[in-house]
Amino acid sequence: MELVNLTEAEFKKFADTIYEKTGIFLPESKLGMLSNRLRRRLKSLDLASFKDYYSLLQDDKACEKELPHFLAAVTTNETYFFRNETLWKFFREKWLPEVIERKKQVASKTIRIWSAASSSGEEAYTAAICLRESLPGFSTWKIEIVGSDISHDVLDKASSGIYNEYAISRSDPKIVAKWFTQKDDTYELKSEIRKHVKFKFHNLRDPFPESKFDLIFLRNVLMYFDNAMKLRVIDHLTNALGCGGNLIIGDVDPIRSTQELRDAIKLDYGGPNVYTKPLSATAARAVLAK
Ligand SMILES: C[S@@+](CC[C@H](N)C(=O)[O-])C[C@H]1O[C@@H](n2cnc3c(N)ncnc32)[C@H](O)[C@@H]1O
Repeated sequence: MELVNLTEAEFKKFADTIYEKTGIFLPESKLGMLSNRLRRRLKSLDLASFKDYYSLLQDDKACEKELPHFLAAVTTNETYFFRNETLWKFFREKWLPEVIERKKQVASKTIRIWSAASSSGEEAYTAAICLRESLPGFSTWKIEIVGSDISHDVLDKASSGIYNEYAISRSDPKIVAKWFTQKDDTYELKSEIRKHVKFKFHNLRDPFPESKFDLIFLRNVLMYFDNAMKLRVIDHLTNALGCGGNLIIGDVDPIRSTQELRDAIKLDYGGPNVYTKPLSATAARAVLAK
């Protein structure tokens, strides 16, 4: 049976479901796109109508299994190692020396990083490789990196640490040779890097169960959310940051694009795509007293 486009009413039901489950906002202009992509999904599931697919999503268990596919119809998991060269230069040359100095002042040798919406883990692992390469006395530090995503499929891939050619295509070949084991067309990240990174399921709509991060990456995901969800996510992330910690967003994710967002955000602007959680009054006094 040839499926026509979703009707406006059907589209609204799907858009409401995805918003309720993930915070992703689908404007009506996406009706054609959603119809095309869901049609392909219906075919693979051998379902006869959008209505059948919608019913499937209403069953909590079936929905949990289907969610990664449904999400894949409206978002992308696109990512790769060393995505955005300028950012990783900043990470190594500016952020790292500053964090080392900050840690010295509080006599700590732990660095905590969260890659929020990590997809298959390339961002979290890139941070681990950069620290391994550039942090003086690396073995004397405790490195805790966590990547999280709403899709179990990408998290499984992240935990496996096995990547294809595309994932490492923008990386320095010397780095690839040093930290990956090539087997035919695949590249397996060495356990020496992997052991510093863990992955867990997390929906950005919800507060994160860990906190006191020195750095949070939130790149290439905010653009899917409306203002209400952006505010909610940024609020959760602000709570998860330690004082003086930084949030790094992507080029496509401005977080001060409206007055409402500018008024609500409690982070200081620290340069393009970088925000800082202000030091608490006590911490600021301690730093000034040194
Ligand atoms: C384009 S990838 C970003 C990967 C990486 N941060 C980067 O910039 O290379 C976007 C990811 O956001 C995830 N995502 C979408 N909505 C989410 C939500 N509500 N909570 C957590 N992750 C979400 C998707 O599953 C997808 O893996």
